[in-house]
Amino acid sequence: MRRLSCFLLITVVQLSTMFCFGQRKTIDQRVDSVLKLMTLEEKVGQLNQYNGDWAYTGPITKDGDKQAQIRNGQLGSMLNVITVEHTRQLQEMAMQSRLKIPLLFGQDIIHGFRTIFPIPLAEAASWDLALMERSARIAAIEASAAGVHWTFAPMVDIARDPRWGRVMEGAGEDPYLGSLIAAARVKGFQGRGLGNTDALMACAKHFAAYGAAVGGRDYNSVDMSERQLWETYLPPFKAAAEAGVATFMNSFNDLNGIPATSNKLLQRDILKGQWKFKGFVVSDWGSVGEMVNHGNVKDNYEAALAALTGGSDMDMESRSYRDHLAKLVREGKVKISLIDDAVRRILKKKFEMGLFEDPYRFCNKERQDSQWNNAAHLRESRSMAAKTIVLLKNQGQVLPLPKQGKTIALIGPFVKAVRDNLGFWSYQWPDDSTRIVSLWQGVQNKLGSADKMLYAKGCEIRDTSRSGFAEAVEVASRADIVVMNVGEAHDMSGEAKSRSNIHLPGAQEELIKAIQATGKPVVVLINAGRPLVFNWTADNVPAILYTWWLGTEAGNAIADVLFGDYNPSAKLPMSFPRTEGQIPIYYNHYNSGRPAKTDSDLNYVSAYIDLPNSPKFPFGFGLSYTQFEYGDISLSKTSLRSTDKLVARVTVRNSGSFSGEETVQLYIRDMVGSVIRPVKELKGFKKITLKPGESRVIEFTISVNDLRFYNEKLANDWEPGEFEIMIGGNSRDVKKMKINWAR
Ligand code: GLC
Repeated sequence: MRRLSCFLLITVVQLSTMFCFGQRKTIDQRVDSVLKLMTLEEKVGQLNQYNGDWAYTGPITKDGDKQAQIRNGQLGSMLNVITVEHTRQLQEMAMQSRLKIPLLFGQDIIHGFRTIFPIPLAEAASWDLALMERSARIAAIEASAAGVHWTFAPMVDIARDPRWGRVMEGAGEDPYLGSLIAAARVKGFQGRGLGNTDALMACAKHFAAYGAAVGGRDYNSVDMSERQLWETYLPPFKAAAEAGVATFMNSFNDLNGIPATSNKLLQRDILKGQWKFKGFVVSDWGSVGEMVNHGNVKDNYEAALAALTGGSDMDMESRSYRDHLAKLVREGKVKISLIDDAVRRILKKKFEMGLFEDPYRFCNKERQDSQWNNAAHLRESRSMAAKTIVLLKNQGQVLPLPKQGKTIALIGPFVKAVRDNLGFWSYQWPDDSTRIVSLWQGVQNKLGSADKMLYAKGCEIRDTSRSGFAEAVEVASRADIVVMNVGEAHDMSGEAKSRSNIHLPGAQEELIKAIQATGKPVVVLINAGRPLVFNWTADNVPAILYTWWLGTEAGNAIADVLFGDYNPSAKLPMSFPRTEGQIPIYYNHYNSGRPAKTDSDLNYVSAYIDLPNSPKFPFGFGLSYTQFEYGDISLSKTSLRSTDKLVARVTVRNSGSFSGEETVQLYIRDMVGSVIRPVKELKGFKKITLKPGESRVIEFTISVNDLRFYNEKLANDWEPGEFEIMIGGNSRDVKKMKINWAR
C-alpha cells in the first residue's frame, strides 16, 4: 500500500509540476507546486551542499552518511563529483527521496576541464574577449559531458596585490577590462542558455572585494569605503549579473566588519535588491561556519541565522543550515518566507537545467567519451595560449629564434616540467605525462628532432642549491642560444598561496646570472600565476617572455612564439612591481597632493627614496616582434556638450618587419571631480593586425557615459570640466590631448 501511495504521490508531483488546467505551467508555477509539497526538513535539505569524495578544495569534514542524507532529501547539491558514472550513482539516490528533487553537481571549472587552458590571468593578457568566451565554452562542453551542471567560475575579483595567490584566477587590476571579461566568461560557460546539455550554470565569485585582503594574505580582512567598493570591486560582478550569470558565490573575507557571507548590503540590498538578481547565492567552502572565527556570531546556530538572513541561499560544507535552520524557523527566528525564497531560487535553476524532466540528462556516457580527448579543443588551446604570452623584452631582436642551423640549450627547472604547466585549479589525469606538452617537447616538435637541442635543469624550483650550475654552464657553453625556463611551481599561486616574497623562487635568478655570464644570447621564459619580481633578469637579459601557466598545450604554444610562428601580442592585465615594498601598485591610482614628476623626483613628493615610483612593467604593457608607431591624436571636437559624442582618432603604423597584432588602448582622465579621480582610467581598446609598413586610423567614440563615476552620494554620474584623452599601446606610453565637456 505504502509503495502505491508513494507512486501516486510521485506521479502527482511530476504532473502537478508540468500542467495546470491543461496549460503548461511556467517554471515559477512549477517551482511553487513542488514547494507546496515540501516539508521544512526537505526545504532545508535543498540549501545544503556537500563535497563529494573525488577531490577536496577546502578543509575536510568527514561525517555522517552522505548517501543516506541524499536518499532522505537532505541534500540539494554536491561538489567535486565528476564523470557520468559518479554523478548518475548519486542522482539515482536522490531519485529515491520522497519528492525526487534532483541534485545539482558543481565543480571548479576555472580554466578548462580535460583540455586545460591558460590560467584566467594569462587569458586576460590576451585582451581577446572572444578568446575568453570560447575558452569557457569549450570548458563547459567538456565538463557538462562529464556530468557537471555548474561551475564555480568566473572568478571576477579585481586584484591589485600580487602577493595574493588568487590573482591567477581573475582578470587583473582594472574594473573596465575585468567587467568585459566577466561577461564574456559567463556567456562562454552558459552558452546558448541553461537547459542545453552543453551549458554550465556559471557562478560569479567571490562576492565581494576578496582581492583587497589586507597584506595580500588570503582570507584576510577587507576594509574600504563603499565608494571604492562601487568604483573598483563591484563593476565586474554587476557585469556578470547583467550577462545573466546563474549564481553568485560569496567570499571568505569580512567587508567593513561584516563577513561577506552574512552581508546584507552586498547580498540583499545590492545583489538581490538593486540588481534584481534572480539566481541563488552559494556560500564559499564552510564560510557560513567560519563566521564564528570572524567573531561575528558565537556558534553555528547564530551563523545559520545570520547567513540566511544576510542572503546566502546555499551552505557549502559547513552543515550550519542542515543542523540549525529548521529549529530557527520553529523558534520563529527565521521566517519561513526567507527559507522559501532560497529554496525557490535553487529549484528554479534545477528546472531551468531540465533536471526535473530528466535528472540524468547530463549523464550521457557516449557524449562524455566523445569529449574526453577532443583534438580540436587541444588545437584551440594551443592557439589561445600563444596569444596570452607577453613579450617583455627583445633587445637586439634575439627573438624569434631560427628553426635551423643553431644549437639551442634549454636550461631551467621548467624545461621538462609537465604538471607545472597547468597551474592551480587544474585536474590531474592518469595520462597527464603524455598529454601535457612540456617546453622540451614543444621545441622538439617545432624543430622536428632534438639533434640540435641540449638540456640541463640547472636548479630546482624552490631550493637554493647551486649544485646543478656547473653542468648548466657547461651545456650553455656548447650552444649558440640559451632558452631558460624559470618561475613558480603550479602550487605557488592559487588559493591559500599568498607569498610575502614574490621574487623568482630559490636559486633561479642566480642560475640566470651564471648563464648570462657565459656571453651566449639568453632568452628567459617565466612561468607564473602572478606578477613576479625579477629585476636583475629584466635589466640584464636581452629577451624575456612571460609564459604564465599555459595549460595542456604549453610547450607547443611557447615554441610557436619562440620561433616566430606566432608574433606575441599580449598585454599585461596587472602592473608588475619592482619589489614587494611597492605593493599595492596599480595604474589607475590617484594623483595625491604631491605627485612625483619623474621616477627620480624626491623633492617632498609621494615617492620612495630607495626605489623609482613606477612599476617595473606597467598595466597594458607588451611588446611585439614588430614595432608599432602612434601618430598624434586628432579629435572631432575639443569643446563638447552633454549630448555630444567625441571621436578620437590616431594613426597606428607597423614600422617593423613582422605582421603583428596590437591592442590600442584608450584612457581618460577627469582633471577635476567632486571626489578625486584617477590619473587615468581604461575606457576602451581595439585589437588590430597590421602588416609591415601598414597604417590604420583607429577611432574611439566617447560619450559622457564614459565619464561616469561614483560620487560622494554614490550616484553614478559625470561632471562637466576638463578631461585628458590618452591613447597608446600601454598605460604609460600614451599620446595625450585635452578637451572640455560642459553640461
Ligand atoms: C574554495 C574556493 C572557491 C571554490 C570553492 C569550491 O575554497 O574559495 O573559489 O569554488 O572552495 O571548491
